[in-house]
Amino acid sequence: MDRMANLPMDSVPSPVSSDALSSPDDDNWKLESMTFPEQFAWGSATAAYQIEGGWDADGKGPSVWDTFTHQGGDRVFKNQTGVYYYDKVIDGLLSIAVTPVVTLYHFDLPQHLEDQGGWRSDATVEAFNTYAQFCFKTFGDRVKLWITINEPYVVAVYGYEKGVIAPGIAMPGVGAYLAAHNMIKAHAAAWHSYSRLFREKQGGLVSIALNSDWAEPFNPNSLADQEAAKRHIAFCLDWFATPIFLSGDYPAVMKSKISAACKRQGSLSSRLPEFTDQEKMMIKGTADFFSLNYYTTRKIKHQDHEISQPSMSADKEAEQVIDPSWPVATGSSWLAVVPWGLRRLLKYIKDTYSHPIIYITENGFSQCDPAPIDDAQRWEYFRLTLQEILKAIYTDGVQVKGYFVWSLLDNFEWICGYSSRFGLFHVDFENSALPRVPYKSAFEYAKIIANKGLMKPPR
Ligand code: BGC
Repeated sequence: MDRMANLPMDSVPSPVSSDALSSPDDDNWKLESMTFPEQFAWGSATAAYQIEGGWDADGKGPSVWDTFTHQGGDRVFKNQTGVYYYDKVIDGLLSIAVTPVVTLYHFDLPQHLEDQGGWRSDATVEAFNTYAQFCFKTFGDRVKLWITINEPYVVAVYGYEKGVIAPGIAMPGVGAYLAAHNMIKAHAAAWHSYSRLFREKQGGLVSIALNSDWAEPFNPNSLADQEAAKRHIAFCLDWFATPIFLSGDYPAVMKSKISAACKRQGSLSSRLPEFTDQEKMMIKGTADFFSLNYYTTRKIKHQDHEISQPSMSADKEAEQVIDPSWPVATGSSWLAVVPWGLRRLLKYIKDTYSHPIIYITENGFSQCDPAPIDDAQRWEYFRLTLQEILKAIYTDGVQVKGYFVWSLLDNFEWICGYSSRFGLFHVDFENSALPRVPYKSAFEYAKIIANKGLMKPPR
């Protein structure tokens, strides 16, 4: 997905035909009467940098995003006020019977680490591990579900390959591989720290949030497109999931494609870094559940790159296309709405990664500003998505244990600022009191949670 490139809205395909949204997979059940499993976890997600504000308050140091947005600074570690703030958030949630799932790092790397190489540097691995230990020690008596890193793919590709998000470094064909390599090692180090020092006493679980599109071959009858679709997933989800869940090492197809491209470019060594045998052993098996963020699907065409400058897309030899029949969320031109893509992705994860327990830790649909409070269209996207999850659970036997809407509140949508609204609650950013009003989707979502099931669509 090209998520960080928001196209002008007039280039976006026109809205919704219900055919485009209906699932191509044959299912004849009465979905409206199906309930989710008893212990299913319902939630909504947010991220510190996107909602907290106070970038220079209480001794917080600057992060890469403060620099990138030319504002100044943000951050908890070694900061008593930050600890006090998160203590209050966690205790407040627990007091109203909400289970916190805490992500340690969601895009806002401290600027001082970036100044020493950021995720391109091995030194960040140890710094992250120290920070993770601090958080486990400080909050782990109450927090039992941890996510180390949110979407390492997005950080690596958009932050270090294309340079369109913080830290804004464009090193095509090199930067993303290096950043991903260190993020995988940092995640594994934190997981081992938890196991060694805290697991027995605290009894929690630790994972990493991986985002992925689903990918369909552009021409289903073309073998080349079928292979390209598989590569699209290999270079996104499997890049992280294969080492962490399966083998300790990168997917074979990534290794072979990148080294073939390097040879064509006249280099004997691959731009994809290698894990040592010891690192492979350290990385393999370092997730206690599968945390998946799903937003969209792409059609994929094979694309030859005989001679090229180094870049990830040249290594991958695949081009992505949005099917013009798919509706697109009004607030994000990259967000083609394809609920059935989630079901296929869930099945793929089940089959590829030994039937893990899966939490869908992000899924959502943005509206552009001004966003209607009666967001019936958007609720329909949620409803269809929940139907696909039911099919994944009951027909495909996938162990989906939770679903978290992105996002609780309208918030700072990175380079799109405040114009792309993902919230269940509308926020008036023009008013300094930031008043909040629930969208229709918030009420509908509450009904689903109360009923543990789906409602009939409104007539
Ligand atoms: C990110 C969020 C972001 C959302 C919508 C997710 O990938 O984790 O920070 O706001 O996508 O773009």
